[in-house]
Amino acid sequence: MTSVDAYDEEYDSARLSGTNAVVEFYNSYAEEYERILDEQVFFWIGEYSAGVLWKVMTDKKTDEEKANLAVLDVACGTGKTGEFLKEVGFSIVDGCDPALKMVEIAKQKKIFRDIHIGQMGPNPEDGFKTIPDGTYDGLLCVGCLTRGAAAVKDALPEFVRVLKKGGYGVYVISQSLNKIDALKDHLKYFESQQLDIITIEKKFYRIYNEVTTYCHVYIVQKM
Ligand SMILES: C[S@@+](CC[C@H](N)C(=O)[O-])C[C@H]1O[C@@H](n2cnc3c(N)ncnc32)[C@H](O)[C@@H]1O
Repeated sequence: MTSVDAYDEEYDSARLSGTNAVVEFYNSYAEEYERILDEQVFFWIGEYSAGVLWKVMTDKKTDEEKANLAVLDVACGTGKTGEFLKEVGFSIVDGCDPALKMVEIAKQKKIFRDIHIGQMGPNPEDGFKTIPDGTYDGLLCVGCLTRGAAAVKDALPEFVRVLKKGGYGVYVISQSLNKIDALKDHLKYFESQQLDIITIEKKFYRIYNEVTTYCHVYIVQKM
């Protein structure tokens, strides 16, 4: 059984090598991933963010409208965030992720309508190619906008593409990414009115070995 320290150490080394190594890392830890999360008091942010997405998307909606909302769990991994999305009230939840072994576990949970394979990155072959433009009313992305996994500048075009006009995005940006650079990556979307900013909140991320880390939760709307 891998300790959290060993997992963290291996992750730190994988992320120095970039996305492919990170995806391989997650594939190799697919079976242990959720246990390791639980040991870090790490996961409150997934639950919190799913609740935030539900709140911002369902304000003044009828029960029928709520039941028809389709959301995407970006970087769904083993489906933990998808479970939170279901628990808060979403009926139609799809996922997407590049790590096939993580996705295998997610599929067994039978919470996702569909899971798309792909990754966010700088190359033309990157992206979730099986998702048509303007598909989702909302999306959640937790645990992926972090050093070595997905860059904010590579995620934003895909977020904008897959959301419907008026759709909401809630995503968590790790403190391992420079917060000013993350904000700057957003500016052209705000300036060109492709995205509107609802809030950016600093939130607790995890406490482990008496070290507390934080993150920023972005809530945006596609215009
Ligand atoms: C920490 S897990 C988060 C899984 C799930 N959202 C959760 O919070 O439990 C990170 C996930 O991001 C995926 N990932 C890493 N790099 C990615 C990229 N460039 N694009 C999309 N997903 C990526 C990994 O395969 C992994 O499943």
